[in-house]
Amino acid sequence: NILAPRQYSAGLNLNNRDETDSLLAGLERWKSHQWQARPQVRISSLTTYQPDIVVGCPFSAHDKVGLVQWAHPDDVYAIIDTAQRAFTHWNNEPRPAFAAQRKTWLLTLADLLETHRHELVMLCVREAGKTLQDAVDEIREAVDFCRYYSGFIDEGFAEPIALPGPTGELNQLHYEGRGVWFCISPWNFPLAIFIGQISAALAAGNAVIAKPAEATSLIAARAVELAYAAGVPQELLQCVPGSGPILGDVFCNDARIAGVAFTGSHKTAHKIAMDLAHRRGPIATFIAETGGQNAMIVDSTALPEQVVKDVLRSAFGSAGQRCSALRALYLQSDIADEVIRLLRGAMNELVVGNPGDVSTDVGPLISMQAKNSLLAHIRHLKSHGKVLAQVDNVPEEGFFLAPVAYEIASISELDDEHFGPILHVIRYQNTDLPKVIEDINNTGFGLTLSVHSRNPEVSGFIARTARVGNVYINRDQIGAVVGVQPFGGLGRSGTGPKAGGPDYVKRFACERTVSVNT
Ligand code: NAD
Ligand code: ALA
Repeated sequence: NILAPRQYSAGLNLNNRDETDSLLAGLERWKSHQWQARPQVRISSLTTYQPDIVVGCPFSAHDKVGLVQWAHPDDVYAIIDTAQRAFTHWNNEPRPAFAAQRKTWLLTLADLLETHRHELVMLCVREAGKTLQDAVDEIREAVDFCRYYSGFIDEGFAEPIALPGPTGELNQLHYEGRGVWFCISPWNFPLAIFIGQISAALAAGNAVIAKPAEATSLIAARAVELAYAAGVPQELLQCVPGSGPILGDVFCNDARIAGVAFTGSHKTAHKIAMDLAHRRGPIATFIAETGGQNAMIVDSTALPEQVVKDVLRSAFGSAGQRCSALRALYLQSDIADEVIRLLRGAMNELVVGNPGDVSTDVGPLISMQAKNSLLAHIRHLKSHGKVLAQVDNVPEEGFFLAPVAYEIASISELDDEHFGPILHVIRYQNTDLPKVIEDINNTGFGLTLSVHSRNPEVSGFIARTARVGNVYINRDQIGAVVGVQPFGGLGRSGTGPKAGGPDYVKRFACERTVSVNT
C-alpha cells in the first residue's frame, strides 16, 4: 500500500500481516449488516410522517447499508426544547460532580469506540467509501478527540479559577456551558469530526443537537448510541439526521441555539453566518471549519522521491476528499520535469478500487453528484490545461474517478475547491517565490500548505508569509494529529479555534466572573 501513513500511537499497522488478518476477521460479521438511524425526539401531533430512506454504498449498487429517517422541520421546536431543559437541569448540578460526570462519559465513550472498532470501520467503508486505512484512522481520531477534550474539563469547569485582587475581595472566573449547541458535520469525516464537535461541546457542559451529513447518518447514529451506552443522557445529546438546508434553516434561525459548530463548505458557512446574523435574540457563537485551496511548494533542493510520495498521499489519499488535501503543486522549473516523470510512474502504481480491500489506495467519491461536478472541472481543464498523468484502471461500478494531474498556469484559475483526486501543477522560477505566496494568499483560503526544500531560509520565508493555518515542511500535508497538530484554517477556510488544539473546548464555554466583597 503506497499511501500508508506514518504510524501514530493508536490504530493499526495495515502493513503488518497479523494486524491486518485480525482486522479482516473482525470485519466479516459486519459485511452485510444493515443499520438504522432515526431522530430521537418526536411529537406525533406535529410530525409529518417521514419515510425511511435506503442508504446505499458509494462503490456497490447492490449494497443496502441501512435505513434512515430524516427529522422533519416541525420536530425542531421539540428537539430544542428537550435540549434546553436538559441543559438547565445539568447546569444546576454542583459543578465538580457534573464535571466529573462529563469526564467519565467521554472517557467511556472513547473506550467504547475502540471496542466497537470493527463495526465502525465497516460502517465507514460501506457508508462513506473510506479505505480500510482511512477508516481505522477515523476511529483513532474520534477516540483521540474524546480523550484529549476530556482533559480540559479540569481547567476551570469543576472549580473556579482564583484571580488576583485587593485584600477583602475574592475574584473568581467560572467556565460553564453556553446552552444548546447545534453541531453540523460533513460526510468526509463522518465519525472523527462528528464526535470531535460533540465531545468538545459536552466537555464544556453544553447540551448538543448533532446533525450529521445526509450521506453518513448511520455512522453518526451508531456513535450516538455508543455515547448513550457510555452514560450520556439522551436529552443532553440528540442526533438529528436530515436535510442540511431544510433543518439548518430552522435550527440556525431559532434564538434558543446558543452556538453553532460547523464543518463543511465555505458556501454553507456563509449561509449559516447570515442566518445567525439576522435572527433576533441572543448573539450566537459560531465556529466554522471549511475548505482550502491547498498548495505544496517544491524548490530545486528538494528530494524528488520524497516529494512524489508526499504528493501522492496529500493529493490522492482519501480520493482527494479532505479539506487538507493538496490541490496546487508548485514545482521550481529546475526540478519540475524530474518530479513530473516520477509522479507519472508512481500514479501508474495507484490501486483504485474497493475500499474494503487492503491493497486499495484510492476509494470512491461520495456520490454521483460529486463525480459529475469534478468531471465538469476536468472538461474545463482539458481545454485550459495540459494533462500530465492519469490513472487508467478504474472500476466501472461505483462513483470512482481516475486520479489525474493537470498543468495549469496559475492558482488564480481555480475558482473554488475541487473536492476530489485532481492535482493542479504549476511551474515557477526561484525569483518568483514572493509572487507565488501572494497568489496563494489571494485565493482567500488558508488551510494547509507544505514546503519541500532543504534550504531553511526558503521554508522559513514560506512558513512566515503564507497565510494558512497549518504549514508542513518536508512532509505530506494531511492527517493532523489531535493534540499534536491542532488543525484549522484562516480566511475562507475557517474561524478557528483549532480542532484538536488547547483553545477548542473553551470556545464552547461561557466565562463568568464572580467578585465577592469579603
Ligand atoms: P456542505 O457544506 O455541503 O455540508 C456540510 C454540512 O452542512 C452537512 O451536514 C450538511 O447537511 C449541512 N448543511 C448544508 N446546508 C446547510 C444549511 N443551509 N444550514 C445548516 N447546515 C447545512 O459540505 P460537505 O460537502 O458535506 O463537506 C465537504 C466540505 O467540508 C469541503 O468543503 C471540505 O473542505 C470541508 N471540510 C472542512 C474541514 C475542516 O476541518 N476545515 C474538514 C472536513 C471537511
Ligand atoms: N484533520 C484532517 C487532516 O488533517 C482534515 O487531514
